Amino acid sequence: MKVLVLKESAEGERRVAAVPATVEKMARAGMEVLVQAGAGLAAGFVDAEYQTAGAKVAGDLAGDVLLKVQRPSAEEMDRIPEGAALIAYSLQGRGAAGLREGLQRRRITAFSLDLVPRIARAQNMDVLSSMANIAGYKSALLAANALGKFFPMLMTAAGTVLPAKVFVLGAGVAGLQAVATARRLGAVVSAFDIRPAVKEQVESLGARFVGVGLDQHAEDAKGYAKEVSAETAQKERQLLLEELKATDACITTALVPGKRAPVLVTAEMVKAMRTGSVIVDLAAEQGGNCELTQPGKEIVAHGVTILGPVNLVSSMAFQASQLYSRNVLNFLLHLYDKKAGKISLDRSDEIVKGCLIAHAGEVVQQI
Ligand code: NAI
Repeated sequence: MKVLVLKESAEGERRVAAVPATVEKMARAGMEVLVQAGAGLAAGFVDAEYQTAGAKVAGDLAGDVLLKVQRPSAEEMDRIPEGAALIAYSLQGRGAAGLREGLQRRRITAFSLDLVPRIARAQNMDVLSSMANIAGYKSALLAANALGKFFPMLMTAAGTVLPAKVFVLGAGVAGLQAVATARRLGAVVSAFDIRPAVKEQVESLGARFVGVGLDQHAEDAKGYAKEVSAETAQKERQLLLEELKATDACITTALVPGKRAPVLVTAEMVKAMRTGSVIVDLAAEQGGNCELTQPGKEIVAHGVTILGPVNLVSSMAFQASQLYSRNVLNFLLHLYDKKAGKISLDRSDEIVKGCLIAHAGEVVQQI
């Protein structure tokens, strides 16, 4: 079975879907690995390292299974070998509608790894957690950098510097990592989530949990947040307004799967914040948690700096690629039938069912 690692073409994308360490494992499992020339360069992996690991450097797009981070562009789709299998980070959501025709026309079997169910046996394929961890970490650094104040408390001969107050909205994987990173930098941290279940996790990281008394039924069966009722949203807004008045840096990470990100920080709340404070909106790509966020931009509104980073994980491409490619490898090995030397699909398997988007050109999930 020929596995081809594609070079990413999307603007700003530095990650790669396989690193030399995972190539070595694929080769040892009996796969023939081809890497498009320069595929890992932006992430810090040169062609020679891939070759040492057992890959051939390829010029054209020939392969049975294609590994990618971003969804293929229309131009890439035309060059993908007919009937090939494609594994990528996300094939659904905004801007993906154009994929459907290409998948059908090229009879592609496509897997969207962000849809792998969050069950124990698929934990090592969980790309959402891998990337959210990185984004959460980096968001705290962005906040510290944009804030013209120290995060830690300092006691100096010239007086005491009070620690910065950091408020994290949404305490899932990214939010908890933002809490932990801001704490390591010495800030006083509080966090809010609609799911009361995260209270303990927030507190175990040395932060204060805000949001007692909110909806006890905020979680769906998979542990994800549901959209909240109008009454809960109103309560939530009051709570946030009070907290934000005393916040130096607010990091927002709230998402609801399949929906636009909830707007939690309104323009009025931004107005009520102290001049010089900062908002880092990690949900910028999903519409933003702050009403004033502009995706991909840094703006100042009412004296508050608002950052809407896009593809933040790409700024840590080396380790983002290492983690993502391990998830990809685990998924590929899950599908691989070593005896037959090809991937074999068990359509009743929960993991396959969850992330299979198209089978031999037949689109089986909404794109
Ligand atoms: P996510 O990225 O979908 O959302 C981020 C956070 O935003 C969540 O904590 C969510 O509750 C919160 N949120 C949504 N609407 C909100 C609102 N109106 N106000 C405040 N907060 C709001 O979540 P993520 O990080 O992907 O994790 C979701 C769940 O999945 C968690 O319960 C987590 O523990 C669980 N999980 C399970 C794994 C497994 O079993 N393998 C692995 C990773 C996460």
